[in-house]
Amino acid sequence: MEPVLDTRSRPLRDLRISVTDRCDFRCVYCMPKEIFGRDFEFLRRSELLTFEEIARVVRIAAGLGVHKLRLTGGEPLLRRDLERLVGMLAEIDGIDDIAMTTNGSLLPRKAQALADAGLRRVTVSLDSLDDDVFRAVNDVDFPVERVLDGIAAAVAAGLPVKVNMVVKRGLNEGSVLDMAGHFRGTGHILRLIEYMDVGTTNGWQMDDVVPAAELVEAIGAEWPLEPVDPAYPGEVARRYRYADGAGEIGVIASVTQPFCHDCSRARLSAEGRLYTCLFAAAGHDLRGRLRGDGGDEQLDAFLRRIWGRRSDRYSELRTAETSRRPKVEMSHIGG
Ligand code: GTP
Ligand code: 5AD
Ligand code: SF4
Ligand code: SF4
Repeated sequence: MEPVLDTRSRPLRDLRISVTDRCDFRCVYCMPKEIFGRDFEFLRRSELLTFEEIARVVRIAAGLGVHKLRLTGGEPLLRRDLERLVGMLAEIDGIDDIAMTTNGSLLPRKAQALADAGLRRVTVSLDSLDDDVFRAVNDVDFPVERVLDGIAAAVAAGLPVKVNMVVKRGLNEGSVLDMAGHFRGTGHILRLIEYMDVGTTNGWQMDDVVPAAELVEAIGAEWPLEPVDPAYPGEVARRYRYADGAGEIGVIASVTQPFCHDCSRARLSAEGRLYTCLFAAAGHDLRGRLRGDGGDEQLDAFLRRIWGRRSDRYSELRTAETSRRPKVEMSHIGG
């Protein structure tokens, strides 16, 4: 099968699959309670793609050049029997990497089964080691200790771990050195993420963003850092290693140093829409086609058409005005 390029000559390599729009956390930068509270209407079960439907999309996407998958949500571990999906995806020809982004709350129960099914690694979201700060971020009173238990469970299951920390000015910037110090020397890669204007509910303002360069400087002043080349073309994180050999960190500077020029990621929402950018206003309906009469050839042609017409580069065009435009929520299409 021929790989496909978009209008900016970017290949499709990475498919991020949201398996649910629900989450047990209400992180203030992602699912603020005022919007995602009691009355919020989440997707119904019949609206979600089945595991078989997801696997079918992945088989076709693999023919277009996708070799890397990331399971996300919402919180992916809220989807029942997720290890069954992992097992199905691990068998697909051409897929050589299956990762998951999780808040860690259910890892103690799930890590071993996921690893046994073929999950290769996990990325755990954790925004502070200070329990008060962390509870203020997740807004459901979830203690730090239990996320650390989740990380320990992943390690025990043999899964490599990265830790994602979204930094928002005035919320958790004071936790950065503490997090760096804690994860130095553990083998887990801490990634500092600039707070982004995803969706329309988090009230994003440019002033809330702590530029990644500032964070690298602060950490480097404590423990000297050296830049490292990207691990693969189009890598989202810029890598740095501690000069003393205590491992590496990454920064994801999608606001101050956008990386759209080689973005090779597509996103599949839990109800089967395909998005060609994290900041897209709308997706392309695959579920109707999966449940209709068309065969795999038609789906293949549809995916090629969507990617072939793609021109997205939102982060390179971002302004205060664009940040107010309609955009899909992160909890809907995943991190
Ligand atoms: P690795 O495969 O381990 O390199 O991970 P990754 O680079 O795919 O990163 P991960 O999924 O952990 O993404 C970390 C964070 O980066 C996400 O939660 C988002 O906040 C941000 N991010 C990831 N992909 C994109 C993207 O395509 N555009 C933008 N603007 N941000 C992204
Ligand atoms: N800005 C940056 N990253 C975000 N995430 C969610 N909301 C935002 C935001 N506004 C990402 C975090 C988290 C993942 C699930 O989604 O990386 O780890
Ligand atoms: Fe849930 Fe992750 Fe969003 Fe937090 S950032 S609300 S853990 S999906
Ligand atoms: Fe890719 Fe859109 Fe993110 Fe740019 S803003 S890196 S095009 S997902």
